[in-house]
Amino acid sequence: MTPTRWHVLPDAPAVAAEARRRVEEAARRAIGERGAFHIVLAGGTTPRLLYSLLPQLATDWSRWHVWFGDERVAAANDPERNSVMAQTVWLDRVPIPAAQVHLIPTERGLAAAVEAYRQALAGVGDFDLVLLGLGEDGHTASLFPGHDWGVGPTAPDVLAIENAPKPPPQRVSLSAARLSRARSVLFLVTGAGKREAVARWRGGGMLPAAAITPACGVDVLLDAESAGDIV
Ligand code: 6PG
Repeated sequence: MTPTRWHVLPDAPAVAAEARRRVEEAARRAIGERGAFHIVLAGGTTPRLLYSLLPQLATDWSRWHVWFGDERVAAANDPERNSVMAQTVWLDRVPIPAAQVHLIPTERGLAAAVEAYRQALAGVGDFDLVLLGLGEDGHTASLFPGHDWGVGPTAPDVLAIENAPKPPPQRVSLSAARLSRARSVLFLVTGAGKREAVARWRGGGMLPAAAITPACGVDVLLDAESAGDIV
């Protein structure tokens, strides 16, 4: 059983501030130990506050490699793209070399994007830090209940998602197996809408979020609204 460490903070700004601290520490350690920092970004709206804080970091941006846990199939500049949000509030404001921001090119269509991202990841080892969100149904990245999550040693790194219950229906997602190849995994969960999914997860429910099983365990940052009765 993967250790899951629950950290309840007062509110969403406190979750973002603690996440910022952890991102900064993970980057410092990775750059110090290996000369590079490979981070996987969560999509959705929750991480926006965190990403807006990251331009303040005192770090060597030339050592950063940014990956995306998932991406919606949409035009490159579509505001619904997970990458567009991160670029707007953070990535366009810091000097990470463009070749080190590994966008998932879903504007090329689903199959081409999956193949391009699979090739980009070839030879890349464990991620240093994986950021993930949690959906109200327990999904994470674009791994949804009732769909293939890509668990186990033979699972592909990159999945083509069709008929996703959360629009848009077509998405590219890292698999649970590839998301689990990480030195640190941090979930950001806020809002009362996530309370039921958190309770099911804590109760041992087999949610997609629970399929992320790095040897290091996972850390979940929650605000009081989503934590419910966790003390
Ligand atoms: C996406 C995300 C998805 C998200 C959760 C939570 O593309 O929608 O990757 O997994 O993290 O749905 O979304 P919110 O943060 O908007 O609640």
